Amino acid sequence: MPEPQYIAADWYDSPHYYDLIFDQDTVVEADFVEAAWEKHSAIQGLPKQLRILEPACGSGRMMKELASRGHRVTGFDRNEKMLKAARERFESANCRGTLKRASLEEFSLKGKFDIAHCLVSTFKYILTEEGAVSHLQCVANHLRPGGIYLLGIHLTDYSRENCEHERWTGSDAGVHVVCNTRTWPPDRRTRLEKLRNRLRVRHDDDPRERLLETVWNCRTYSAGEFFRTIAKVPALTPVAFYNFHHDIERPLLQARRQLSNDVVFVLQNTSN
Ligand SMILES: C[S@@+](CC[C@H](N)C(=O)[O-])C[C@H]1O[C@@H](n2cnc3c(N)ncnc32)[C@H](O)[C@@H]1O
Repeated sequence: MPEPQYIAADWYDSPHYYDLIFDQDTVVEADFVEAAWEKHSAIQGLPKQLRILEPACGSGRMMKELASRGHRVTGFDRNEKMLKAARERFESANCRGTLKRASLEEFSLKGKFDIAHCLVSTFKYILTEEGAVSHLQCVANHLRPGGIYLLGIHLTDYSRENCEHERWTGSDAGVHVVCNTRTWPPDRRTRLEKLRNRLRVRHDDDPRERLLETVWNCRTYSAGEFFRTIAKVPALTPVAFYNFHHDIERPLLQARRQLSNDVVFVLQNTSN
């Protein structure tokens, strides 16, 4: 069989296809955000309505879920198509939220937040140390004292010599998406790893398949590298770690440097 012809695309320009894959875990992740707040924030007296910030909010799946639970949500993203999809999602669900175009590396928003979250390794799209530190400092500036930042990242195994492959599928209302992601071995010197995402999309009412391919670089982090970056932002103190099952009853208990794979870092704003 010849290789199908994929067209170069930015898959964040197709929010609907993105949602078919990633909307499946939204309720569990939103439960985790609320539970992490109760367990790890150092703010006395739990407000019923949290002020929640989502850097790189994408098409707003988490924002909408948390808004529908009564919280005040704010999110930003650099992709206009994602933001448009988020606005439409809010309108059709009759929910309220604040959306803005901004970049992870540098942002300024009104007010302070109880909690911020960025759960699906998006932090690794920031390609420089300067950008990563600036992002963490911006988050710290926007958190109330005692507030927390839930930051999920896939930690790098520099001994990996083979490509990693992940496959997801999703279907809804006659649209079927298969997503294959390939990650090349990390380059310890440049701290970059190449990632390719291939989407195969079929609509029930259209016999033609759509084949879309996105290629990115992501920044790599071992546990040690991540903690060295965090240490540059003294306002944020790591207080707990979880894996991507998002089970608040099962924190990761190993030593910091032994953390590996998918980790959610709970970072508390310990400044006054
Ligand atoms: C994997 S999606 C996550 C979306 C959302 N947080 C979620 O959980 O569904 C990554 C998002 O990050 C955005 N993004 C990537 N790099 C960014 C940057 N430097 N600044 C702002 N947004 C960025 C993309 O446009 C995309 O919407």
